[in-house]
Parts: sequence; structure tokens; C-alpha cells
Amino acid sequence: MRSRFPRLLALAAFWLLAAVGCQKTQDAVPVIKVGEFGSLTGSTATFGISTQRGIDMAVEDLNAAGGIRGRKVQMIVEDDQGKPEEAATVAQKLINQNGVVAMLGEVASSRSLAAAPICQGAGIPMITPASTNPKVTEVGDYIFRVCFIDPDQGRVVAQFAFNTVGARTAAILTDVKNDYSVGLASFFEERFVQLGGTIATKESYTEGDIDFKAQLTAIRAKKPDVLFIPGYYTEVGLIGRQAQELGLTAKLLGCDGWDSPKLLEIAQGSLEGFYFTNHYSVSDPNPAVRQFVERYRELYGETPDAMAVLGYDAANVLFDAMKRAPSLQGAAIRDAIAQTKDFPGVTGTITINERRDAEKPMVVLQVRGDSLVVVEKIAPA
Ligand code: PHE
Repeated sequence: MRSRFPRLLALAAFWLLAAVGCQKTQDAVPVIKVGEFGSLTGSTATFGISTQRGIDMAVEDLNAAGGIRGRKVQMIVEDDQGKPEEAATVAQKLINQNGVVAMLGEVASSRSLAAAPICQGAGIPMITPASTNPKVTEVGDYIFRVCFIDPDQGRVVAQFAFNTVGARTAAILTDVKNDYSVGLASFFEERFVQLGGTIATKESYTEGDIDFKAQLTAIRAKKPDVLFIPGYYTEVGLIGRQAQELGLTAKLLGCDGWDSPKLLEIAQGSLEGFYFTNHYSVSDPNPAVRQFVERYRELYGETPDAMAVLGYDAANVLFDAMKRAPSLQGAAIRDAIAQTKDFPGVTGTITINERRDAEKPMVVLQVRGDSLVVVEKIAPA
């Protein structure tokens, strides 16, 4: 016994030193910090939460496969509470205090537009997973997106209204402080009128409003065939309910901003049979979609919305570019993102064009009970 004790002690000391040694070598390879900002709280909280979940899945894949040249990626996440000013503030913080080498965010175009000039000015590449307003990537050569843009989305909804729904008159209800909403309203109008339709009336609201009865009463008086609402799910759900209460006969139409696991819960059946355009469909038989949907459901107990999938795709496009870039300097990552070609995303094949946008497929979804059913698939423009 007495002779074994020092040997055990020596063994313990050996393992202790070995463990410390390992710790040291791991620390010697610093992580790569990437920033992410989104609305984790506020009236569009599902946008930020879904995106973050998708991004986390991409980070998990990347780090499990060895990271980028042996270095792991760590996301530094900031909540902008759904406010453009806050998006600018947290982007500034992520760059100046956290030293991130690249940025992922935001979903809402107005928030991306507030943060993009900061990333551009600092030479930090930013990829927005889901902001569709064309102005976002016009900010400068460091700003990219992996989704389609609203001139296309507005055109598709107008054509769907005119050709498939058979509408000849339309009303538009716009969120006037939201760049996405204002842009889509005009893209829709342009195409609908070009096709021979008439805009019966235009009404407006601002995010956070809860009573839309005055606008809906004015719209009801014009008896339009369709009511186009380029807004976000919280207000859209309430508008749907109040439109039903007021007995509006117009069919409601919308865009990707409607997409949220909370939409149908807020709308309480009032959107039944109505349509909106989106980036992907949960029922797509494509194996990449099936695999993603299953993994997401297992992880989070929920069906992924478009932002979850676009978050995953945006992060993967960024990591792929970081692997190809000769260094992690902003300009090197920027050039590598710009060269992205035929990248296999879950939402479709991603090629970054000369305007730093992606040309992607689109779907028109119809609300049927608890499901969103694909009624039309549109190939990239
Ligand atoms: N496209 C919207 C915007 O630009 C954001 C969004 C994307 C919302 C996808 C829902 C789903 O503001």
C-alpha cells in the first residue's frame, strides 16, 4: 500500500498536467467571432428566434467538421428588439467591442438598412438572410443577401391576384414606416395596373397599431376584389380578424412578412383560404428540405419557417466563403462571398449576382386550416 501511493499520486499529477496542457493548446487556437443581430424580442420576435436557430444548426455542422482551418466559429448574438436604431447600435458594438469578422442579420429590411452602413463603413461583410427590399444591398459592396428581392415578389403577387384569383380591383394596406412594406406596395401596384387592374384605395398603418377598423371600413366601402397587405405577422393576424368582423369580402394577399409560427394563432381562422408568397415550403419533397425540417423539429419541437431555413443558408454561404478566403480580413471575405456560385442551399441554389443579391425560387402558399399549402411555384426570374 505504502509503495503504491506515491505512484498513484504521480499518475494523478501526470493526468492533471496533461489536461492543463490540452487546455492550453485548445486556447492557443482562438475562435473566430461572427456577429448576429436580430429581433429576439418585440412584435416580430419569431423572426430573430427562427433565424438564430437556423444559424446555430449551421455553426454546429461547421464546428463538428473541424471549423475553418482548424478554428471554431463562435456566434455573438445581439437582440435589437425589432428597432432600427437598436440594430445600428448593436452592430456597432459587435464590431468595436467584440471584434467580429463578419455579420449575419437582419430579417426586416428597415433593420438591415440601419445596420448596413455601419458594416460597410467598418469593412465588415454582412449577409442578410431574409431582407428583400432592394435598397439593402445597394448600401455598398460589403452587403449581401441570400434571398430574392421585392420587385420580383411584388410582381408575383400582382400576377397571382390578376391571373389566378381573377381580381380586377385591389386595395393596399401599407405599414408606412417599414421600408419593406412601402417598397412592396409600389412594386405590386405597378404590376397590377400594368396588367389592367385598378387600385381602388390605399390605406396605411404603423407597426404596433392594434386597431385597423377605420382603414378597413374605408376599404370595405370600395368593395375591392383583393386586399394586399405587405406587412408582418402580428399586425396581419389582427387585420385578418378585424376584416372578418367587418365582413370584408376581399381576398387577403400578402408576402413573406406574414410567415411566422404565430401567424395562424393570432389570426384565429380569419385568414382561411388566403395567400402569401414565401421563400420555401415545409412540404417540399426535396431531400435537403426534408432533412432540415426533420432535424429542426427534433431540436426545437416546431416546424421551421422561412427565416429558420434562410438563417441556415446565410450562415453556410458565409462559412463557405470564409473557408475559400485567403484570410479573414473583411475585404478577403467580401470577395469570397461575391464569388459564391451554385451553392446548394436548402432554399435553392445560391449564386450571388453583381448586385450582391441571390436569384431564388418563390412559392405562393394558401392558408388551409393549420397548414400552408403550395399553390404555385415560381422559378427564379
Ligand atoms: N422580407 C422581409 C423584409 O425584408 C423579412 C422577412 C423575410 C419576413 C422572411 C418573414 C420571412 O422585411
